[in-house]
Amino acid sequence: MAAGKSLNRVGGEWTEPSTGRWFEDRDPAAPEEVVGIFPDSGAADADRAVAAARDAFPRWARTPAPKRAEMLYRAGEILKRRKDELAHIMTREMGKVLAETKGDVQEAIDTAFYAAGEGRRLFGETTTSELPDKFCMSVRQPIGVCGIITPWNFPMAIPAWKMFPALLCGNTIVFKPAHDTPASASRFVEVLVEAGIPDGVVNLLHGHGREVGTAIVEHPGVNLISFTGSTETGKKIAQQCGGQLKRASLELGGKNGMIVMDDADLDLAIEGAVWGCFGTTGQRCTATSRLILHEAISAEFTERLVRRARALRLGHGLEPGTDVGPLIHEAAREKVHRYVEIGKSEGAELLCGGRPVDAGKLRGWFYEPTVFGKVLPNMRIAQEEIFGPVVAVLEVKDLDQAIAVLNGTRYGLSSSIYTADVNRAFRAMRDIEAGITYVNGPTIGAEVHLPFGGVKETGNGHREAGPQVYDVFSEWKAIYVDYSGKLQKAQIDSQPS
Ligand code: UN1
Repeated sequence: MAAGKSLNRVGGEWTEPSTGRWFEDRDPAAPEEVVGIFPDSGAADADRAVAAARDAFPRWARTPAPKRAEMLYRAGEILKRRKDELAHIMTREMGKVLAETKGDVQEAIDTAFYAAGEGRRLFGETTTSELPDKFCMSVRQPIGVCGIITPWNFPMAIPAWKMFPALLCGNTIVFKPAHDTPASASRFVEVLVEAGIPDGVVNLLHGHGREVGTAIVEHPGVNLISFTGSTETGKKIAQQCGGQLKRASLELGGKNGMIVMDDADLDLAIEGAVWGCFGTTGQRCTATSRLILHEAISAEFTERLVRRARALRLGHGLEPGTDVGPLIHEAAREKVHRYVEIGKSEGAELLCGGRPVDAGKLRGWFYEPTVFGKVLPNMRIAQEEIFGPVVAVLEVKDLDQAIAVLNGTRYGLSSSIYTADVNRAFRAMRDIEAGITYVNGPTIGAEVHLPFGGVKETGNGHREAGPQVYDVFSEWKAIYVDYSGKLQKAQIDSQPS
């Protein structure tokens, strides 16, 4: 094996891919630099990984939940110890600035400790029976083998959101991380191994979605798919899973809007918009990609935003002082630029940005922070997920119109309103169609102990994080114990006529 190659992990062994193929992981801020070389796995690898996960399942499922939790607690401690090193490699392979990759690792740490606490809860319910001398309760049971397919924009937080609750509930895992962030994924699995997760419980397959990802989704030995990514891919996965009645938890696209009312604290709202629109180079599914501004403050707000956007410092995420890193790869940059051209041709006004940057020191996939004014709700740049540093500014006359505009897309992940009026805030909280609403904060920055997910085409009704995620990764079982010593018929003996 040549130096620099990382491996899959199947059944407790670090293994080479059956395909004999490998791929390179490159730094998006310096694409000539190879961060590592990873297995390009195929269907035969999926077969082996699923078999290993199935073998490990009965034993893991019977390990007491508090014991499973102790391992997750240890994983949290190891992540904490290795936080700087993990953030560093993450920035190198996907570009976001170091403070943000540290935040990403922290989200995994928070999730580990939250899941560890759940080990001594994992509550079911006891309830009464309609019949005498009969006891009723519900308990959570593991589901089996979970296929975990994750994106590159949160290379540790999202795998942690999915895998820690899955493991706590007693499931085993086949993990297929994004091929753009394999180094973070390998280290994440190393942490789990060091934390004592037994062989075969977590299996890691690197590679591409269309090949090994599809093989995992279609594999009859996989009981559940948890996927975060595009709505298009999510719909395909939903169909594939539907055909096998396989549970699928899908976390998909967004076109998140921030409303700024005429009574808002504008300094605060500008600060929030800059962070929501351009943080992570706009590559969050929660990113603020539409600003819905009350007409009374729209001109001033837009002018100040443009000034701030122009002043953002682009650079390598490891360099102190960098505000905005690169896009993930060349294709992403081309897509962003295509949307800028679409915006111009639709008649929106390009107020700043709108060009790739590759002059001088910036060799990677950088793109200027871009603001479009005079955007109309039906324009494609106001409807479609761009996943880059491009924001569409829309003007409205009042709160009703603001909410109607905000709701007028096929997505419904995150949302926000800046207002000093409590009545307006409560109306927005009620009427906005989204899984997340912020008041006086931007659309990004969810915390791990609240449910995360969206409505409409953002998902299929499930939630990650919070106590709700335990419903995704466990099967409810109702148990009745009749200690009357005789046959008692529900609905019949309880209602003598
Ligand atoms: C994502 O972009 O897929 O709420 C997840 C946030 C982060 C998670 C984003 N905590 O912005």
